[in-house]
Amino acid sequence: MLSFEVSFPTQIFFGIGEINQLGERAKTLGCKPLLVTGGNAAKRTGLLARVQALLEAANIEAILFDKIEPNPRTTTVDAGAALAREHGCDFVLAVGGGSVMDASKAIAAAALSGRPIYDYMRGNPLGTAKELVPVQSALPLITVPTVAATGSEANAISVLTHWETHEKSSFNGPALFPKIAILDPELTFTVPARITAEASADIFSHIFESYLISASGTHVQDGISESLIRLVVEHSLKAIQQPDHAEARATLLWASTLGISPFALAGRGASMPLHGIEHPLSGIYDMAHGRGLAILSLPYFEQIILADRPERLARMGRNCFGIDIADDQACARATIEAVRQWYERMGITERLSDFGVTRDALPRMAEEAVQIGGRGVGYLPSSHKLNAAEIVSIYEACL
Ligand code: NZQ
Ligand code: ZN
Repeated sequence: MLSFEVSFPTQIFFGIGEINQLGERAKTLGCKPLLVTGGNAAKRTGLLARVQALLEAANIEAILFDKIEPNPRTTTVDAGAALAREHGCDFVLAVGGGSVMDASKAIAAAALSGRPIYDYMRGNPLGTAKELVPVQSALPLITVPTVAATGSEANAISVLTHWETHEKSSFNGPALFPKIAILDPELTFTVPARITAEASADIFSHIFESYLISASGTHVQDGISESLIRLVVEHSLKAIQQPDHAEARATLLWASTLGISPFALAGRGASMPLHGIEHPLSGIYDMAHGRGLAILSLPYFEQIILADRPERLARMGRNCFGIDIADDQACARATIEAVRQWYERMGITERLSDFGVTRDALPRMAEEAVQIGGRGVGYLPSSHKLNAAEIVSIYEACL
């Protein structure tokens, strides 16, 4: 296990009914929030009206910004930041999935600094390089996740797309940690099967990516990661079958928060290579992040992990998928098959060509994956870094 420093400063309130205390908790941060939601779900499910009523009852005047799209864009963030500045908002309240929470972090930073949010993102590697401005400060933020997926509710990461260049990249900084996160599993009962599947694949990916290429001796993190993977596989299927399965939804929600937290990841010295390879898919084709990860993961296992770390893949199979095969190579192959079957049971069966991806687009995507997601395709220092040819080969296997 490598040395590490950890800070997990978000105050989390977890449980069914926790949303009802929103007003009194919001009051501790200010009196005029920018209330940020997506364009559709929060209205359709009645959650927006419920949140507005709770705020009103606490004498909090919220300014609504309901324009966040899935795979949120820098232009939308800039519009939200301008609205927050115009109204003198003193904190940001994010009610939605990872897209809403990521955009809200960015709005919280840009509203305070007045800078375009793109200043904080990597330059387009296929264009001119630009200076990267670190995030120094941000308005306080409350997150209310409505999908169990990204863990954005309690981390300091924001992932945005600059649509003109199709650059999808993340930036982070301690100032982006939400002050308060209200995790009420009931708010996820309305998530449809398709999105539950994508979200569960995303949680799985956050955990397995660094688990599979981890430094040795990470026994605590391995135990936590293996439990989380087992639970996500089991409870994703329950939630898909019965959307208001409270125990399944609660399990997925807490697993999403912990899966990308230091409790599972610290001390591994490992990055998330597959996330770097996926981001061009959602950045260029606007694909759902979790679906892209699931499709790419199978050839990633076959082409990279089977050669580099078969013993870790085998261990994941034995401890998370109940595979009882002694030989590591054979067990690792059986693990890939078990993951494929889980995806299929969740309804993830597509190829990249189903989303319009063509062979001639692959070299550019791979180049972007290496450069924009550079951190993402970085392996352990002792191991190899994925190059563009290897990434093209992974994409090709998914066409
Ligand atoms: O757009 P609206 O109307 O809000 O509807 C959303 C959206 O269509 C809908 N939805 C949300 N809550 C719902 C619901 N539908 C019914 N009932 C509810 N309760 O679900 C759709 C997907 O929402 P989205 O927020 O896009 O999904 P997710 O939570 O998976 O977030 C994905 C985004 O997060 C980024 C991804 O790249 C992607 O942009 N990530 C953020 C990370 C982080 N901050 O740490 C890490 C992740 O790896 C990921 O990269
Ligand atoms: Zn993810």
